[in-house]
Amino acid sequence: MVLEVSIDRSTEPAFVAELTDLVNQVYADAEKGLWVPGTRRTDEAEVAAVLEAGEFAVARLDAALVGAVRVQRLPGGEGEFGMLVASPAHRGAGIGRELVRFAEAWARGRGARTMQLELLVPRDWTHPVKEFLREWYERLGYRAIRRDQFEQAHPTLAPRLATPCDFVVYHKPI
Ligand SMILES: CC(C)(COP(=O)(O)OP(=O)(O)OC[C@H]1O[C@@H](n2cnc3c(N)ncnc32)[C@H](O)[C@@H]1OP(=O)(O)O)[C@@H](O)C(=O)NCCC(=O)NCCS
Repeated sequence: MVLEVSIDRSTEPAFVAELTDLVNQVYADAEKGLWVPGTRRTDEAEVAAVLEAGEFAVARLDAALVGAVRVQRLPGGEGEFGMLVASPAHRGAGIGRELVRFAEAWARGRGARTMQLELLVPRDWTHPVKEFLREWYERLGYRAIRRDQFEQAHPTLAPRLATPCDFVVYHKPI
């Protein structure tokens, strides 16, 4: 089995639909209880725009799509990754770690010295997936530097929340 991670710029409709479905399916489970039912993480138009910008890295196992991550350069010069997903059928096989490694190398190659990620967490209770992510990101070298109220950062999306949430911002020197 060969795992390959690379930037994919294809906006072929079937691929865009497959990638959109993967992100939405994974997030429907990973953020269950945080959003009002029926809320989707993304849609085909956003995914196609990110692909076109050269900001989606995809993981393929023997050519089959098994994961993805969005990579970006922030205005302050940091690298950032988001929309990190691994296919539920292949968890724990290192796809997530390879995607994070790729995102960090991508950002470092563009001059970034800090990598950022944002974790959406419920304000008043503990979400098991978010706890797993917090511990895993810490093992990968990320440290929480700030906690922002989601409603203040994204007032237009706030009505879609099912419970009050915060963004915890993590940094790692790269
Ligand atoms: C986060 C995510 C991409 C990780 O993907 P993955 O391919 O399972 O990642 P890895 O195989 O590299 O394993 C991650 C960690 O989980 C541990 N793990 C072991 N078995 C596991 C299993 N069956 N399922 C999940 N994780 C397992 C691994 O040991 C690893 O820890 P380590 O790096 O310290 O060894 C995946 O869990 C996911 O899609 N989560 C939902 C989406 C999400 O919340 N994204 C992040 C938004 S900020």
